[in-house]
Amino acid sequence: MSMNEFNGVTQLADFYSSETFTRIKNFADQRETPFVVIDLPTISGAYDELVGHFDYADIYYAVKANPAEAILKLLRDRGANFDIASRYELDKVMGLDVDASRISYGNTIKKARDIRYFYERGVRLFATDSESDLQTIAREAPGSQVYVRVLTDGSQTADWPLSRKFGCETEMAVELLTEARELGLEPYGVSFHVGSQQREIGSWDAALAKVKVIFDRLRDEQGIELKMINMGGGFPANYISRTNDLATYAEEITRFLQEDFGEEFPRIILEPGRSLIANAGILVSEVVLISRKSRTALHRWVFTDVGKFSGLIETLDESIKYPVYTEKTGELEGSVLAGPTCDSADIMYENFKYPLPLTLEPGDRLYWLSTGAYTTSYSAVEFNGFPPLAEYCIGE
Ligand SMILES: Cc1ncc(COP(=O)(O)O)c(C=O)c1O
Repeated sequence: MSMNEFNGVTQLADFYSSETFTRIKNFADQRETPFVVIDLPTISGAYDELVGHFDYADIYYAVKANPAEAILKLLRDRGANFDIASRYELDKVMGLDVDASRISYGNTIKKARDIRYFYERGVRLFATDSESDLQTIAREAPGSQVYVRVLTDGSQTADWPLSRKFGCETEMAVELLTEARELGLEPYGVSFHVGSQQREIGSWDAALAKVKVIFDRLRDEQGIELKMINMGGGFPANYISRTNDLATYAEEITRFLQEDFGEEFPRIILEPGRSLIANAGILVSEVVLISRKSRTALHRWVFTDVGKFSGLIETLDESIKYPVYTEKTGELEGSVLAGPTCDSADIMYENFKYPLPLTLEPGDRLYWLSTGAYTTSYSAVEFNGFPPLAEYCIGE
């Protein structure tokens, strides 16, 4: 189903089994909105599916997607490793008895003293994409393994692109990995991120072709044998703009790897965030107000007690289109969906008019499906006095 095909009501069955939704709803019914409920068995299932499809890869969970302790513990116990963005995430994950050997410092933007901090805590795996950062790693984390992140071209087809800000051109990647050896570091591999919620599987093909060039050039020109490819995240969650299923991604990406590297792959790392967690979460909100801007206006404004500043920031530019479910039924009308704060940027969807029933009224609940990732961790601390988005993890 593509975005253009969606002009009806969100069908729960497209997103959750009735057992899972009932479990979440029974819990939600007891509590005041807004909050996210995370269903841990759904995460377990997604982890099994990922590992099943990519049995040759090591999983490094991108903690930024959702750093809830219960999620970290579940993934720790399942044997996952962790992609870490800051010293605060590091403290949190290592505070749960995760060994430093299971951690990668994946942020290319880091202070010298933070690199030192990671090093002192035992981390030996660092991402980089610039000479300045590489030299700082050599000084503050001597002898460590480094991998260089390359630029990718997937920004047109990813719903939440990550290009431009991160990565470097192929030529520079070759130079940095060569310099890494001169600086006493181990030139370990290459990483990329094709953009989050990447709908075009061919993006991995293009990225892997670059990686292959870098592997070959370093071997042929420098005698450096790289050992690892970090294929980042970008795997899909289930939103309104549907994607292929994970099995298709895995099949295609594995084929790309085989074409470039034969049957003997280097070590492969995946850093899933969204694809592991998003579908496990439902954000439960309440309609605060419904209005029209004039008596003859053709659509209503539906204001809810959750908005851009309380977890729905990925609706920026209407990028991520969450399925929204209501138990109310009846004739539908396209509605603008907006948040509760006194900020006019706090509108989630205005161009895309969500079809919502005319029977909807203040006090009714709206269920924002597939909101387990990139919601709670993005929520403001006290904007307009509203507290950060609450979260409950259930099951297991
Ligand atoms: C370095 C890195 N790895 C992995 C991820 C997770 O990506 P996704 O949520 O698309 O799986 C991100 C997301 O920003 C990232 O920055």
